[in-house]
Amino acid sequence: MTIDPRPSVIAERLKGVKRVIAVTGWKGGIGKSVTASTLALLLAKQGYRTGLFDLDFAGASDHLVLGAKGLFPKEEKGLEPPVFEGVKFMSVVFFSENKAVPLRGANVSDAIIELLAITQWGELDFLVLDMPPGINDAALDVMRFAKGAEVLAVTVPSVLAHDVLERSLALYRRLGVPVLGVVENMSDGRRPAGACAAIRRDPKLEAALGRPAALLKTAFARDLRRAAAKAGLA
Ligand SMILES: Nc1ncnc2c1ncn2[C@@H]1O[C@H](COP(=O)(O)OP(=O)(O)OP(=O)(O)O)[C@@H](O)[C@H]1O
Ligand SMILES: [Mg+2]
Repeated sequence: MTIDPRPSVIAERLKGVKRVIAVTGWKGGIGKSVTASTLALLLAKQGYRTGLFDLDFAGASDHLVLGAKGLFPKEEKGLEPPVFEGVKFMSVVFFSENKAVPLRGANVSDAIIELLAITQWGELDFLVLDMPPGINDAALDVMRFAKGAEVLAVTVPSVLAHDVLERSLALYRRLGVPVLGVVENMSDGRRPAGACAAIRRDPKLEAALGRPAALLKTAFARDLRRAAAKAGLA
């Protein structure tokens, strides 16, 4: 029998992190990455020690939202995330470009767990996770390993999205995962059903992607800040 040492290693790695916020949504293209990245920028701007971890192997995009180019973690008893705009930033994209790949042969879930086990976050007030879409092995493993992680769920105003949301929230409740709140993104201004806050569709968001200062000035960021406060985040 082999004993998996990773749970205790990950617990040790996350010891200095006060809150882990898993930005989750159960559909693709609904704004998880812009929400996670902008939330990390907002928290850092407010003076919180903040980390951002892009765990979406299929479509890592936080580096594009932030405009973080040419970054790479430092090897120092594990991996030390580079700091961008005050945010300690780690992304699977650092390892997926056929260079410096410590993840050979591992499947996604294993690779994510490996990264959780080797990343040195140090002392943080918030670690924001951009979760892979859906409830699958990878997502469940993250919640299992990053003990105490709280979910901030993103949805959109659509009957189909709400149906998936309801079922996913029920599953998370069964698993005992705390859900901070549901944010309805790309809202049409109507009162969101089952969500704690709405973020309006912002036609200027796209042009601000890749430019943190511009991103923080968007209506999207303002709405997100309100939503985060409603969900009990800063
Ligand atoms: N409130 C909004 N107003 C305008 N555009 C938005 C809004 N929210 C998200 N978008 C746009 O929608 C697109 C998808 O957003 P994003 O990549 O964050 O979604 P995602 O849920 O992370 O997708 P994926 O499942 O592919 O990871 C992006 O181009 C983003 O700029
Ligand atoms: Mg994404």
